[in-house]
Order: sequence, then structure tokens, then C-alpha cells
Amino acid sequence: MRHLLEIDDLSVGELTDILERGTHAQLTKVLDGQGVALLFEKPSARTRNSMEMAVVQLGGHPLTIRPDEVGLDTRETVEDVVRTLAGYHSIIGARVFEHAKLERAIAVSAVPVVNMLSDEAHPLQGLADVLTLAQEFGGIDALAGRTVTYVGDGNNVARSLALATGMLGMQVRVATPVGYELSSSDISRVQDAGVALECTNDPMAACQGADAVYTDVWTSMGQEAESIQRRAAFAGFTVTDDLMALAAPDSVFLHCLPAHRDEEVTNAVLEGSRSRVWAQAANRMHAARGALHWLMEQR
Ligand code: CP
Ligand code: NVA
Repeated sequence: MRHLLEIDDLSVGELTDILERGTHAQLTKVLDGQGVALLFEKPSARTRNSMEMAVVQLGGHPLTIRPDEVGLDTRETVEDVVRTLAGYHSIIGARVFEHAKLERAIAVSAVPVVNMLSDEAHPLQGLADVLTLAQEFGGIDALAGRTVTYVGDGNNVARSLALATGMLGMQVRVATPVGYELSSSDISRVQDAGVALECTNDPMAACQGADAVYTDVWTSMGQEAESIQRRAAFAGFTVTDDLMALAAPDSVFLHCLPAHRDEEVTNAVLEGSRSRVWAQAANRMHAARGALHWLMEQR
């Protein structure tokens, strides 16, 4: 049995396999008559909807559990919740604050666990991101040698993006303000996965010639108390038309969404001709279907 807590839980071959499954026209109904628990400690539009629909497309029944319904570690422990849910469901998806809760979940779970976003990682997003880039640039095999630049907070989305794109051979640049870099353990982890990673505090240099420019919110869920301080620290890191003009002529703009227009990205870039954010959001469902299908076959 396998779990999916971060992209580097996968080999490069497994990553490619999941992406190919996600775009396969007729996947077998591996979840026929079975349940998938989708447990959320935080809000979600894309992840909940894409996972629910992916489960349905594989013949299963998704059961979404909202933050107030279970109370991980308040009403009962993570371990007790997971062992209970594994009695009804074939897969457990969880969106949590502390990544450690997912590690505790896999230690006791009788069924595969999928990370639907933690403070450290967002692998389902990373899968959709590389699927979107593969569609744009002529296939998974055509990504090697291209450059993706992430501008903004060195957060969960940045780490999973760096792993997913880098493991497929892309050059990865991450431009953050001072103090908001990927952690040193994240950098080692990404490099250990064989990724060519450059970190900088200069968004303009990082965007030079890039094939894709990516950003995410400056204040992630759970960091709301820091939002004023963060807005000041991230001045100069908005993805504007001027920044996009430094990227390659056929470059695309990506954002995991939700977006805060005129904070991390201007409305003009988000709604502009280079933006692929709606295709990227739609790809969340295809990526999720690929991941769930693969997980069911590994048991
Ligand atoms: N990108 C993403 O995970 O969106 P949601 O938070 O709406 O699920
Ligand atoms: N970094 C953001 C991503 C939202 C999909 C967060 O964790 O809130």
C-alpha cells in the first residue's frame, strides 16, 4: 500500500504514470461501490470539488467531512479518526494545518492517505501544475530543459511545484522576499529529489526567459494574523505585465488559486492571454483521478 503526502513519495516513473492515468480516456472504475473520505480542516473550492468528482468518475462515493464535524485532536485523536474512517472507506484524503498529522495518519491507516494540502505540501496541486505545463508545451517528455519561475512565498505550493516540475527535468527558480524563502530542509529535500533549483530574492532576474511564471497568495490559510506584515514584505513581488515581459515570449502564467487580484498578481496578468489558471484549475480533477486510480492499484 502507498500513500501520497508529497510529490517525492513518487519515483519519476510513478509521477509520469499518474499524469498519464489522469488523461486516460477510459480508466477502470477502481472505486466501484467504495467510499473515499475527504476530511477538511480548512476551506476549499478546487480540492473538494475536483476530488469529489474524480471519486465519482472512478465509480466511488465521496464523503466530505467539514472542519467542525470531526475535530482532529480536539474531539478525538487523529489516529482514532483515521482508524475509524478506514473501516468505511478505501482512501482517506485530508487537508490539515500541521503536516505531522498526515504522518500520524499513515502510521495507523489501513487504507491509502492522500494529502489534500498541509502547511508543508500540496501534491495534488503539483500534479495539476505539471499536467497543465505538459499540455502547454507538448507533453510530459517535452518539459525537460524548460524553466519554471515561482514568485512569492516559499510555501506548500512552492515546494510541491518545485518537486513536480523539477523531477520532470525542468529548471526551477524560486524568488521570494528575504525571510520568506523555502526552508533549508525544503531546499535539501527538493535537491535530494534531483531537482535543479535556484533560489533568489530577485523576482526580475528569476523571470528572465522563464517558460512559466507561477505565484500563490502571500498569506496562506492559517496565517491571516500576519497579512499586513506580509503585504509589506512582499512589495515588489506582484506578478505584473512588466515582470511577464521578462519571461519567454510563449511563456504562461499559473496560479493555484484562490487569487488576490492586485496583491500577488495583477488583474491584467490573471485575466490576460498568457494566463492558464482556469485550465490549471480544471486539471485538478484529472490529476486527482490519476492519483486515486494509481493508489487503488498499489494496494
Ligand atoms: N488550489 C486549491 O487547492 O484550491 P482550494 O483551496 O480552493 O481547494
Ligand atoms: N498556500 C495556500 C494555497 C491555497 C490553495 C494556502 O496554503 O492557503
